[in-house]
Amino acid sequence: MLNFTFKNQTEILFGKGQISEVPARLPANAKVLFLYGGGSIKKNGIYDQVVNALKDAEVFEFSGVEPNPSYETLIKAVDVARTNEVNFILAVGGGSVIDGAKFVAAAHNFDGEPWDILAKGATFENPLPIGAVLTLPATGSESNGNSVVTKKETSQKLAFASETVQPQFALLDPEFTFSLPPRQISNGAVDAFVHVIEQYLTYPVNAPLQDRFAEGILQTLIVEGPKALENPEDYDVRANVMWSATMALNGLIGKGVPQDWATHMIGHELTAIYGLDHAQTLAIVLPSLMKVQAESKKEKIAQLGQRVFGLAGAGGVGSEHIIDDTIQAVVNFFEDMGVETKMSDYDLNGDSTEVAIDKLIANLEKNGMTAIGEHGDIDPAKARKILELSV
Ligand code: NZQ
Ligand code: ZN
Repeated sequence: MLNFTFKNQTEILFGKGQISEVPARLPANAKVLFLYGGGSIKKNGIYDQVVNALKDAEVFEFSGVEPNPSYETLIKAVDVARTNEVNFILAVGGGSVIDGAKFVAAAHNFDGEPWDILAKGATFENPLPIGAVLTLPATGSESNGNSVVTKKETSQKLAFASETVQPQFALLDPEFTFSLPPRQISNGAVDAFVHVIEQYLTYPVNAPLQDRFAEGILQTLIVEGPKALENPEDYDVRANVMWSATMALNGLIGKGVPQDWATHMIGHELTAIYGLDHAQTLAIVLPSLMKVQAESKKEKIAQLGQRVFGLAGAGGVGSEHIIDDTIQAVVNFFEDMGVETKMSDYDLNGDSTEVAIDKLIANLEKNGMTAIGEHGDIDPAKARKILELSV
């Protein structure tokens, strides 16, 4: 096992009615930036519950944070936060709103162009504290320090990470997910699944506990994900999906093990250029990445097939079919969740897949993503090969 340090500062408030715990966690003399998305919270009643929880605070609302939040929108929220001298951000929504809150928090006291935090890794000080009310189980953003922001002007989707912008608390009420459209439940299960894969499907370092944690989350998503589509108001199913998505990317399972993240990095370019949903991009890239990287990942692919998909009986770890069978099982899971796995299944703004691949590779190079994966061996030529298998 590799060396590591581990701390997760986010207090999880899990379950029905837990919004009653939020007021006690706001700062004294709270001046709150209440950040949310395109308005789903007004239709499902979450907005009213949040307003009630904030009734003793001075509140400044900022709505309209879009999926794949843009720098162009968030910089306006930075202005609202600065002008009104807020001392707390309450992010209410999915990963986009929570990631957006982290950018606003980091930019708040940053002296300079805040995009440099993402583009140049500029350091920032005294970020605003954040609380999160999660409405979409998927990204794990509610209890990690990662933020992904898109600059529309340059078609760049970049990330920064700092534990200083990690939410202080996260409210996870499964009932808040009942109103999700099927596409977002599908996206959430696929995204969480791939988060686990990025931290699991590398090479063995004798870390059996991390492996078992990861396999437990994957199996839970495989069983509960389809049920969440079938029975949208089954509280227990939603609770299990929600907790799985949080555990998939709260830092725990990735400690002491190598991590990949190449599927995410290639996928981000598909969103930056063509606006595909984040999870759709992952479903396109991962199966082909597994094929191209099969040699260096073979032990863990076989372990995934055997332990998670129960494929041992169909060939065994040593069998020559286990790699192909495991990749097919991953594809089947994505398709069972209703997420298509080929570029040609999606609208690429009229571009052919050949043109699209050229643009995607050019963007990867522009963003310095030229040595990705757990061995840093996915260069633009390999990334091209992966995409060519994904058409
Ligand atoms: O904008 P509103 O009206 O809220 O609608 C949203 C949005 O249209 C809707 N929605 C959310 N909760 C709902 C709901 N609709 C009905 N009922 C509810 N309860 O769902 C749509 C998608 O929301 P979004 O926040 O964009 O989805 P998600 O949580 O999948 O977040 C995706 C973003 O997170 C980034 C992605 O790149 C993408 O930008 N990621 C962040 C990560 C992190 N911070 O660690 C890791 C991930 O790998 C990912 O990159
Ligand atoms: Zn993701």
